[in-house]
Amino acid sequence: MSVRDEFDAWAADGRDKGMERRHWHTAKHVLAGMPVEAGDVVLDLGTGSGYALRALADTTPLSAGYGLDGSPEMADNAREYTREVGHEAVGYIVGDFGTLPFATDSIDHVFSMEAFYYASDPHETLREVYRVLRPGGTFHCAVNYYEENEYSHDWQDSIDVAMTRWSASQYRAAFRAAGLAVATQAHVPDEETEIPPSEAFPTESWKTREAMVERYRELGTLLTVGVAA
Ligand SMILES: C[S@@+](CC[C@H](N)C(=O)[O-])C[C@H]1O[C@@H](n2cnc3c(N)ncnc32)[C@H](O)[C@@H]1O
Repeated sequence: MSVRDEFDAWAADGRDKGMERRHWHTAKHVLAGMPVEAGDVVLDLGTGSGYALRALADTTPLSAGYGLDGSPEMADNAREYTREVGHEAVGYIVGDFGTLPFATDSIDHVFSMEAFYYASDPHETLREVYRVLRPGGTFHCAVNYYEENEYSHDWQDSIDVAMTRWSASQYRAAFRAAGLAVATQAHVPDEETEIPPSEAFPTESWKTREAMVERYRELGTLLTVGVAA
């Protein structure tokens, strides 16, 4: 199935807002750590409901915020939600991670939450990110689907779009191969997903409390931050 077909269906049944709610637990910490300044141009790769750009624009006057998504329905929803709050510098574009529709050296910062691993060729996407970033610009790439997070390994079974499962070191190596210096890499814990007391386990989704604690409080979201030289 294409990215368009898969994620248009998600947008149509409201999963864009469901993802926003879950991802916000860790995405907000990633966004707070981005060195975005007034007048910057920011790109959100795989923007979904578009919440990340709205959150950045709430605190910093952007020259432009572009949310790129392969699903026209996602982009339509993101436009609608953004119109409601009136951020005129923020817009949404339908496109693919493989060919970013931006000039070389035109973007100050790129953000991506829980989307990068859907790229059909993630190395090509990293080269594109490097191309569009201005020297000194950053790529904040956050993923929950990664090798060390064994609890994510079966996600591919329930989605028809091919996913790339890299380890933390594979992320670092791929960033460097594309020309991005790795400024930092970290596990951002999800402190908000509620973890029931021990006597509630096993639950429908979790065999033990320890496993749930490991998934959310220890592994969390893998953040890799690249800087364009
Ligand atoms: C799991 S959602 C995450 C959305 C949002 N970043 C969030 O945190 O909720 C992944 C998004 O990436 C988009 N996407 C996946 N592969 C893509 C590709 N190759 N090109 C453009 N967008 C893509 C999907 O359409 C979807 O909206």
